[in-house]
Amino acid sequence: MEEHEKHIQALIKLHLGMERQGPGDTNYSNYILSLIKELPANPRIADMGCGAGAGTILLSDRFKSKVRAVDFSREFLNELINRAKQRGLEHLVEEIESNMGSLDWKPETIDLLWSEGAAYNLTFAGALKAWRPLMAANGIAVISEMNYFTSEVPESVQVYWQNAYPTISSESENSNHANSSGFEVLGIHRLPSKA
Ligand SMILES: C[S@@+](CC[C@H](N)C(=O)[O-])C[C@H]1O[C@@H](n2cnc3c(N)ncnc32)[C@H](O)[C@@H]1O
Repeated sequence: MEEHEKHIQALIKLHLGMERQGPGDTNYSNYILSLIKELPANPRIADMGCGAGAGTILLSDRFKSKVRAVDFSREFLNELINRAKQRGLEHLVEEIESNMGSLDWKPETIDLLWSEGAAYNLTFAGALKAWRPLMAANGIAVISEMNYFTSEVPESVQVYWQNAYPTISSESENSNHANSSGFEVLGIHRLPSKA
C-alpha cells in the first residue's frame, strides 16, 4: 500500500465510531444556521467531506430537505447511513462516495453548501474554486477552516504547520481567498474552544 493511502486508512480507523471526525459543535452549528435568513423552502443542500454525518444529520433534520452527503470514505458513509436510519432520516440523505473536489454536478444547483473540517484536504482556496460553480444564485456556503488567529505565530508552530498544512493562512487571507473566488464573505466566526 502507498504511504499516503496507509496514512488515510489509519486516520479513518482512528475516527470510526466517533460522532465527529473533526472540530465542530452542534449548538454552534445551530447558531450559525440561525444567522441565515434567506434560503428557499426546500433548500438543495450539500455536505462536503461529510464524514459520519454530524452536519448531514443536523441539516436534514432541521430543513426536512434532502442532503447530498459527499465523502470518499465508504466506512464513514456507512456510519452516516446507520445514524440516519436510527433517526428516521435516511430518505433525506443521498450518500455520494466521491472526491468532493471533482464533482460533475450541474452548476448553480446548491442553495446551502456545508463543509466542516474538510475543505483543507483540497486546500481552502482549492475547495472554494471547486465549489463556487455549484452555488445557486443567493446560495450560502458555510465552510470551516483552520486559521492563524494572530500574525505573531511562534516559530515552532509555524514549523509544525509548514509541514502539516503549508497553505494555512490567517482569517483575513482566507477572507481574501473567498472574495477572489467569487464568494461574498458574510461573516467569519470562530468555533468555541470546546469544539
Ligand atoms: C476532518 S473530517 C470531517 C468530517 C465531518 N465533516 C465532521 O465534521 O465530522 C474530513 C472528512 O473529509 C473526507 N475527505 C477528505 N478528502 C476528501 C476528498 N477529496 N473527497 C471527499 N471526501 C474527502 C474524509 O474522509 C473525512 O470524512
